[in-house]
Amino acid sequence: MKKRVLTGLQPTGVITLGNYIGSIKQMIEYQNIYESFIFVADLHAITVNQDSIELRKNIKSLIALYIACGIDPEKNTIYIQSENPYVTAISWMLECNTYYGELSRMTQFKDKSKKNANFTSGLLTYPVLMAADIISMNADYVPVGIDQKQHVELARDIAIRFNKKYKELFIVPEVIIKTTGTKITDLQTPDKKMSKSNENQKGVIRLLDDLNVVRKKIMSATTDSEMKIIYDPVNKPGISNLINIYSSLTNKSIEDIEKEFIDSNYGNFKTKVADVVVDTLSNIQKRYNEILNDDEYLDRILDKGRDKNIEISKKIYDKMIDCIGLGR
Ligand code: AMP
Ligand code: TRP
Repeated sequence: MKKRVLTGLQPTGVITLGNYIGSIKQMIEYQNIYESFIFVADLHAITVNQDSIELRKNIKSLIALYIACGIDPEKNTIYIQSENPYVTAISWMLECNTYYGELSRMTQFKDKSKKNANFTSGLLTYPVLMAADIISMNADYVPVGIDQKQHVELARDIAIRFNKKYKELFIVPEVIIKTTGTKITDLQTPDKKMSKSNENQKGVIRLLDDLNVVRKKIMSATTDSEMKIIYDPVNKPGISNLINIYSSLTNKSIEDIEKEFIDSNYGNFKTKVADVVVDTLSNIQKRYNEILNDDEYLDRILDKGRDKNIEISKKIYDKMIDCIGLGR
């Protein structure tokens, strides 16, 4: 039987070129190897305040973007987290097997609760819901960014604990962190990750940005005064970041790129990078606009995804109820 891979993104703002290169492209590779599940983590988004109209819009937009980027609906189960009531029920049962101390030690919780003293209890229990997403689908592998690693490790701990206390019920998930060439940095401050939440958006490329703006952002990316196109992330973070982007989108190796641009100046190189990024985004945006207006197509995919998601998690739910001794 094929191993299962599962991941989710939150529907908070348009995803970045960093998300595309670091996360979505990886899932596109996995869809040919594993049984793949990809979802929109809308319940995670409401751990902080959300405008309801914006939220709805962002959920649909992210689904359309997944598909436009190349997540194949025939090879993936694509779904919206909140459409499956079993996950939140499972989350509660897992919560009762998770310690307050474990949750209050999570780095993301500590950071976010510091920023806003009036945080909800959902911010604290967020990683348990994430564990429920993973455990309820019996996922073997969970590819995430480094910031989510601790949460997947907690999901492992919870699964192991539950298996010991009741019976071997859950698959213990493994985290996948891809480390090479995938961390895309901010174009203006290339020592910082390109992130949806960066205050200055001049260094952030979002997949639905106007293509002229995208070109400008790349042309005005921070570089250095050496004028050599060489990969050296420590001393030349700006140029190395552009090489990473170019390499990921063209599948050319870093060495080949250095050779290709040995006689080039930064202006020429940036133009080439901009061409490739604009070309990639232009294709994605074209497909995105077609898909977004095709409600019937999207509904078909999401209904199928929801049904499969519910079918798998209901089985786990029923077993858990039995093991714990709930109900009749
Ligand atoms: P985030 O948007 O930070 O919640 O991240 C969602 C997913 O996208 C994670 O799996 C990250 O690894 C990936 N990701 C986000 N930003 C970047 C980036 N700048 N470079 C590479 N991967 C990223
Ligand atoms: N918390 C993740 C993020 O913010 C999204 C997420 C929710 C997720 N549930 C998950 C990722 C389960 C992987 C597996 O990026």
